[in-house]
Amino acid sequence: MSLRFLHTSDIHLLDLTGVSPWRYLNKRMTGRMNIMLKRSRSHDGRLFRAMLDMVPALGVDRVVVTGDLTNLSLEPEFDLVQRTLRAAPVPVTVIPGNHDTYTRGSVRSGRFESYLAEFMDGERIGRATYPFVQRHGDVALIGVSTAIASLPLYAVGQVGADQLTRLETILQRTAEEGLTRVVLIHHPVVDGVSGARHGLLDLEAFSRVVARHGAELVLHGHEHVTIETELRGPKGSVPIHGISSGTSVSKKPGRQACFSVYHATADHIRRDLYTWNGSEFQARHD
Ligand SMILES: [Fe+2]
Ligand SMILES: [Fe+2]
Repeated sequence: MSLRFLHTSDIHLLDLTGVSPWRYLNKRMTGRMNIMLKRSRSHDGRLFRAMLDMVPALGVDRVVVTGDLTNLSLEPEFDLVQRTLRAAPVPVTVIPGNHDTYTRGSVRSGRFESYLAEFMDGERIGRATYPFVQRHGDVALIGVSTAIASLPLYAVGQVGADQLTRLETILQRTAEEGLTRVVLIHHPVVDGVSGARHGLLDLEAFSRVVARHGAELVLHGHEHVTIETELRGPKGSVPIHGISSGTSVSKKPGRQACFSVYHATADHIRRDLYTWNGSEFQARHD
């Protein structure tokens, strides 16, 4: 059985209604300034809704969002995200991004997981939340977290040694079962895609795991750019697809809002890319 799914990322839905001013007296101070100056003008949540409206016509079984669903990890934002995803016409899979674990407090309280656990159901190793595995016929979606709270003006991520060990086990098991493995991770996993203050801290360790066990596809977001790279796997190169923000209003090539539709079967993955042209999402068939 195949899986047809839509991949988007970095939707950064914004709702700060009722947030008292003292909650900005931390790292959010810079984040809040950033939003005031830039973010609220560079993202439009209506584009994500336009995407969801296309789901029935696209015939996808599922929507996948690779992190940064919020901006400042505040409750009204998570509440808006939860309501929006619950109203989606098909089930949704999410993983967290750095903006979803924006402060230490939001990490400590497990805010992302407490609002969005229903979109991350699946198999796990022991009691660890990540990675999780969702089996859809011949396809395994493997959700990895790189989300850590970083210092102001930093947007780094880390998988962590323990999670990498579990990922290794999962990749090995799912390969033995002959599943088409799609790894979901917020940060880019190839050197040079992210700047120093933006990157995945244990990118080399991640690439060693992929070199040993492979994957059929890795999907990420974070840089708000649509980009294709690759990593070396045990049987050849592993495609890595980064997608721009799904709500970006940028007109710059590669930075316009995009989503992909993947058709994954036991032996191949086909992709169609859709780009926002200012009034609608238009298809480009690979
Ligand atoms: Fe983002
Ligand atoms: Fe990000």
